[in-house]
Amino acid sequence: MTAPTHSRITGTGSFLPGEPISNDALIAGRGIESSDAWIVDRTGIRFRHLATDDVAASDLALVACQRALAAAGRQPNDVDLVIVATTTPDFIFPSTAALLQAKLGIGNGGAAFDLQAVCSGFVYALNVADKFVRSGSHKCALVVGAEVFSRILDWNDRGTCVLFGDGAGAVVLEASDAPGILATAMHADGSHHGILAVPGQLCGGKAIGDPFLRMDGQAVFKFAVKVLAEVAREVLDAANMTADQLDWLIPHQANVRILQATAKKLHLPLEKCVVTVDRHGNTSSASIPLALDEAVRSGKVGAGDTVLLEGVGGGFTWGAALLKF
Ligand code: UT7
Repeated sequence: MTAPTHSRITGTGSFLPGEPISNDALIAGRGIESSDAWIVDRTGIRFRHLATDDVAASDLALVACQRALAAAGRQPNDVDLVIVATTTPDFIFPSTAALLQAKLGIGNGGAAFDLQAVCSGFVYALNVADKFVRSGSHKCALVVGAEVFSRILDWNDRGTCVLFGDGAGAVVLEASDAPGILATAMHADGSHHGILAVPGQLCGGKAIGDPFLRMDGQAVFKFAVKVLAEVAREVLDAANMTADQLDWLIPHQANVRILQATAKKLHLPLEKCVVTVDRHGNTSSASIPLALDEAVRSGKVGAGDTVLLEGVGGGFTWGAALLKF
């Protein structure tokens, strides 16, 4: 059997729980010392969605995957690989991917596993799935980013709790004769583990350490702007392309000021950058597939478009995928 030359995204889907929650409603509801003006000015965030306590990452992923499969014209049992990027899994084990596989009714014994690279998780997962599909070992992958990030927020820490939201996005990635994924990159530098972390664990039935997200916002901001520009150039160079050939840039959605600075560094007009952080907040590993799906369904991203996805997050991790849609 000869390995296929390429992998290509054949369908996208996403899901956001509940109604959008405005800054004012969040602040009033949780007694946060903040203001709509501060949040909009410093982050661009106006709304986010939050899952109720009985909803898990796999529940959000299920709907996103059903939508992606419908868009690709595929049935659950066509899928032989499920990779879920998540920082907020349903359980310590089994993996959210295994639970999702069961919820989708996939009964073909295909592979399913989680991947943890925090906000870079979806780009990492797409990179891994691309390698599996191009090797010929798997034909049809579901690549998912799913988060109930609100579970790890400290509602007394106004520097972080207003920034994040819950949601899921998914793509179907299939073997293809025509180019889809053109170039990928993945990086990590664990020496920066302290600037963004949930530095806790379960031990003997108790949380040991700190079970909430902690962040040095300014250090993260500077690091993100630097590596998002670098990794974009890296995959463009690998594909022998330049930024002006991009139809769409879809970076991780953390802060509109990071998106603006990245677009500026790449000399790209902001109109070519898909922005959803204003309505979703930062949904960690879900933010890129959520933004991609919204851009596809709204008619922005269409067949043949050149799209650059890029993420950065805790670890630190960062990565990119350049693709023909
Ligand atoms: O997915 C990757 C993870 N996250 C990111 O990429 C986030 C990267 N960082 C950021 O987006 C920004 O650094 C933040 C939005 C987190 C913070 O913005 P900033 O402009 O760096 O603000 P700051 O941390 O320097 O704080 C400025 C002031 C402080 O008050 P003082 O010390 O100047 O009196 C904060 O206490 O703003 C205060 N502040 C707030 N005020 C109202 C911090 N959070 C809030 C808040 N509401 N929610």
